[in-house]
Amino acid sequence: MNDSSDILIEPVAAPTNEVRALIAELDRTLSAEYPPEQRHGLALDAIFQPHIRFFVGWLNGEAVGCGGVALFDDFAEVKRMYVRETARGRGVAQALLARLDAEARAAGLAMLRLETGVRQDAAMRLYTRGGFRQCGAFGAYASMRPEALATSVFFEKPVGVAIRPMSESFGAEVIGLDLSRGLDDAAFRCIEQAWFDASFLVFRDLEMTPDQHIALTRRFGPLHIMTPLHYNHPDHPEVMVLTNLEEGGKPLGIRRAGMGWHSDGEDKQVPNAGSFLYAHVVPPEAGDTLFADMYAAYQALPTAMKQRIAGRRARFSRVDMHHVHYPHEPALTEEQKRERPDVFHPLVRTHPRSGRRSLYIGRWARDVEGLHPDEGRALIEELFAHASNERFVYRHRWRTHDAVLWDNRCMLHSATPFDEHRHTRLMHRTTLEGEVPA
Ligand code: OGA
Ligand code: MN
Repeated sequence: MNDSSDILIEPVAAPTNEVRALIAELDRTLSAEYPPEQRHGLALDAIFQPHIRFFVGWLNGEAVGCGGVALFDDFAEVKRMYVRETARGRGVAQALLARLDAEARAAGLAMLRLETGVRQDAAMRLYTRGGFRQCGAFGAYASMRPEALATSVFFEKPVGVAIRPMSESFGAEVIGLDLSRGLDDAAFRCIEQAWFDASFLVFRDLEMTPDQHIALTRRFGPLHIMTPLHYNHPDHPEVMVLTNLEEGGKPLGIRRAGMGWHSDGEDKQVPNAGSFLYAHVVPPEAGDTLFADMYAAYQALPTAMKQRIAGRRARFSRVDMHHVHYPHEPALTEEQKRERPDVFHPLVRTHPRSGRRSLYIGRWARDVEGLHPDEGRALIEELFAHASNERFVYRHRWRTHDAVLWDNRCMLHSATPFDEHRHTRLMHRTTLEGEVPA
């Protein structure tokens, strides 16, 4: 076992003589170990730059190791890790790495990366044990130092969850979420707040089983189980399956769902608060999903229009519109019609958590209460033309293992077509229970 009790890791603001000696030794050692083309920039001034935090590891009062972490916009990079030969195997390197990891987290960065030489076997073992995995060249390496690619190995390790806004107020990316490590309450609250701030969250490269998908969704609120049940996952009724896949002529999920601007559950008395769609298989092209910001759309309405729609309700009708949106599905039975009566929702609603007002229309909205049906329909069309303006729209181009959590209370979304005869699309969706719009 390593005895780390005597190890002290200390930040270094300015190099003392002892630290200079250690770095000079690092210089000499690396120059001997590395091929000539890799002996670059080990000088002190390259280390003491404002974006690099440098640390020295002390063992029993002696400076025996050093390492730095360079903080970039979206990742941190380990720099100049070195432990004196005489002190190896004592846990100094691990302690330094843990400190660099903590620095990256404290700076709000989710990814720690490093470059090492292809011949640095011991270093590679250390990093692999420390949870790093090999990755492609990152940052400026690929373009600025192509010669490094032949002699270097690149590693990365997620170190925390970071939120990266995708625009000023619509959409944010959640980076570095690793569900196998769990998600503590503080990190969850950051994600939840980001969801209310940005309306939708994009998770990339998320490894998520149906059980994890359900558990993560549940932290945002109670789940809604979609009906009819036959579109849901056979073992997990909480998961709705969207796919063009069939087995023995039997559909394995709902096909061509969500074409046309809508929010989920808008045709029900209690629409769904949120939906969390996860991509298992995506077509190589097309099949994008469009998202539109209804806070921004409402705000941008002319005052006269805001006054015209204030306090008015639209009639959302499954019965009137089913054949329009699901022409490939059988017509609704009398029983289904009774189960999905028309509902009325305010054209302007206030989000219960953000307190902000948004425009609330959708593809099941047919006409407007208190207006002649033709006038109501024309008003809805006018509002649609405004709401779907490209300045309010984000297009999500799906990659495998993307997940998008969107808020149905303040945004619209729409599926777009893909070549269903040539390609497969398989998505899992969980759904959050909502509240009566007000
Ligand atoms: C949905 C939906 C769109 C898509 O899951 O509610 O509308 O592109 N999906 O799959
Ligand atoms: Mn939908």
